[in-house]
Amino acid sequence: MGKEFSRFDRSEGPLDMGDPDLHLDLRIGRSHRELRVVVRQMVDRDADEIHEIHCACLTRTLASHYTQEQIAAWMKGRTPAGYINAANGGENFFVAEADGRVIGFASWQDSELLSLFVHPDSQGLGVGSLLLDACRKDAAAESAGITCLKAAAGADQFYARRGFVPVGQGCTIKNGEVIQDTRMVLPELAPNLKTGR
Ligand SMILES: CC(C)(COP(=O)(O)OP(=O)(O)OC[C@H]1O[C@@H](n2cnc3c(N)ncnc32)[C@H](O)[C@@H]1OP(=O)(O)O)[C@@H](O)C(=O)NCCC(=O)NCCS
Repeated sequence: MGKEFSRFDRSEGPLDMGDPDLHLDLRIGRSHRELRVVVRQMVDRDADEIHEIHCACLTRTLASHYTQEQIAAWMKGRTPAGYINAANGGENFFVAEADGRVIGFASWQDSELLSLFVHPDSQGLGVGSLLLDACRKDAAAESAGITCLKAAAGADQFYARRGFVPVGQGCTIKNGEVIQDTRMVLPELAPNLKTGR
């Protein structure tokens, strides 16, 4: 099954990396249930769910930060096979799985975090933090660690609270649309980069 990461108890904070799974203590209204989340390396059969999560994040979470034209251009041409191709090309993907379903994914390559998406119905529960930790740990074991990322609009505060600092605004062109982002670095691991602090 490959590498698995970390148990996390929402009430106690992150435990040592290396524990096999994550438990979220969910309280929704009066109901209460424990959700077991495992973060593991992506396998090919995850591609459909990864694609679905990516589309749900773009059309739901990011729709309040980008125009319809930008979102459409961002999604255009994306297929499940694209994630498999990227993984075969060296992008390191991890998925968070709960109740037999993938609820989030993240990837890194060459010291850069390339993606981090949690299904809109599962955001705000600690899953994104766990995926980021898994990528950081994996990258640290393989190379210099994750030193930089391009934060989508609305995600910069999430990364700032996890040690990354903004170094400027950037953009990528996707199918003819300019998609703005915030360039961020981890100063401890990229000491030669000008961080403005
Ligand atoms: C950014 C993102 C990956 C974070 O994942 P997540 O699972 O929501 O993250 P966590 O639950 O670990 O942490 C979210 C933070 O928001 C808080 N939060 C509370 N309620 C929340 C809610 N309903 N939704 C989101 N965050 C919420 C959490 O307490 C936490 O605060 P902290 O930063 O002070 O710890 C996720 O929101 C997402 O997929 N966004 C859309 C895609 C995107 O922008 N990805 C980044 C691309 S660079």
